[in-house]
Amino acid sequence: MLRGKRILITAGPTKEFIDPVRFISNASSGKMGYAIAEELSNKGADVILVSGPTNLKCNSSQIKIVQVTTALEMLQACQHYFDSVDIAIFTAAVADYRPMIMESSKIKKNDETMTIQLTKNPDIAYEFGKGKRADQLSIGFALETDNIVEYGKGKMQKKNLDFIVLNTTNENGEGFGFDTNKISLLFRDNSIEHFPLKSKKEVASDIIASLEEQLQQLFT
Ligand code: C5P
Repeated sequence: MLRGKRILITAGPTKEFIDPVRFISNASSGKMGYAIAEELSNKGADVILVSGPTNLKCNSSQIKIVQVTTALEMLQACQHYFDSVDIAIFTAAVADYRPMIMESSKIKKNDETMTIQLTKNPDIAYEFGKGKRADQLSIGFALETDNIVEYGKGKMQKKNLDFIVLNTTNENGEGFGFDTNKISLLFRDNSIEHFPLKSKKEVASDIIASLEEQLQQLFT
């Protein structure tokens, strides 16, 4: 089912520079996205992994990796593949905002306080969702500390996703940085499937099994 399918995956954090040596970022390790990319590649998919800065090595030479740093670079790299992919999986923790101005020299600490004005970054999943064709599928992630199902529903609709992976940071071993994750999958008909705490490799397999079911529904 996945053999030969062209799949775009975003992974990791982005870095948004304040000056040449300082940036805004987050604690995403990229592990979930890399695990999904490797599992899909093992199943014969043609995987393009657009990755923000991580410490990870990709274990498959079959995967095309495009390394980026900022959200704007991630969007530009992804847009190149939007039309040609069958599936897009958005695991990246893209920074929501970036500094309005990146200073060309290191900022000096002269004043007691300082203000950095931020501007909103583009939403890559939303941009894909806007032009998504009937023969394309997309999956997103939602990491929340509360109201996860409600926020998840909103994100799924806004970004025109086929399903969304919900995870919280409420229990030990879930989410950013860990090797394990505890997820629920929320679908367009508002049904939810809950999973226990598992390794990110096993979580990747669960997500891919659901993806295969969706593909079957789409093409039969
Ligand atoms: O709205 P929120 O950032 O929580 O949405 C998370 C989902 O949207 C994830 O799938 C993430 O990869 C994607 N996203 C994106 N571009 C952004 C922000 C989020 O692709 N700028």
